Amino acid sequence: MDTQRIMIEGAMNMETSLLLKALADPQEHIVGQWRFVEGCYHSVHLVVAVTSIGMTNAAAATALGIEKFRPAAVISQGTAGGHDPALQAYDIVLGKRSFDASAYRTAQEEKADWRHLELMGAYAYDAAAQAFVPQAVYYPGDEKLLAAARTVGQEYTRGRVVDGCIASCNTWNRQKERLQYLHDQFGSSCEDMEVNSAAQICQQYGIPFLGIRILSNTEFRAEEFQPESAGVCQQFVLAVAEQYNRELAGN
Ligand code: 5AD
Repeated sequence: MDTQRIMIEGAMNMETSLLLKALADPQEHIVGQWRFVEGCYHSVHLVVAVTSIGMTNAAAATALGIEKFRPAAVISQGTAGGHDPALQAYDIVLGKRSFDASAYRTAQEEKADWRHLELMGAYAYDAAAQAFVPQAVYYPGDEKLLAAARTVGQEYTRGRVVDGCIASCNTWNRQKERLQYLHDQFGSSCEDMEVNSAAQICQQYGIPFLGIRILSNTEFRAEEFQPESAGVCQQFVLAVAEQYNRELAGN
């Protein structure tokens, strides 16, 4: 077995149950309030992190998981809502980049026009500066993880697999005008509540990271949340982990 571990994160039970079932020799660890299960999927050494919902939980679980398991790579996967009107339920977005959709400064004005905003980067630790400094707005996904995911995407039959941009924050937007604005203005393909905060922690640790999100709902096609999509995403991500592991091992 390869000793390099890949940590796969999911927020809700429905977003981790298939991963947990797929593990041979599962070993559970509780760190703080978060559950991690280590085990093997075929020849891949995995750690499944059950983060719970939201940016703070995702950040905490990512940092604790990295400290405890020292993974070679981290994937934040699960469901998302559509921002790109061209996408529909079961389409998968590979996070070529992500941003925090709640990190913005508004225009200075008497009356509020919610569209008058400018995205800001979060503060994160910078090793060169040895300090917490403002970051770029967008965090990139790791190219090798992206390549593995694109390869697996060629076999995906439930929808499209696209490179895209994931907008994360603790918000569930259902207003089409707002969704369209975020897509047009900031290039987002979909929204979730975890990817960008896990990306930030991984960037600080220098660990390769990718967000992989399946559309479970989109206002543009009046598609309500479809829980089965969570299982489809996990299946896809298991194949990505295998493919990445194969590439790491050089075959
Ligand atoms: N908006 C925000 N988060 C969503 N999720 C699924 N669809 C959406 C959406 N439209 C995911 C989040 C969170 C949970 C509520 O489901 O990542 O974990």
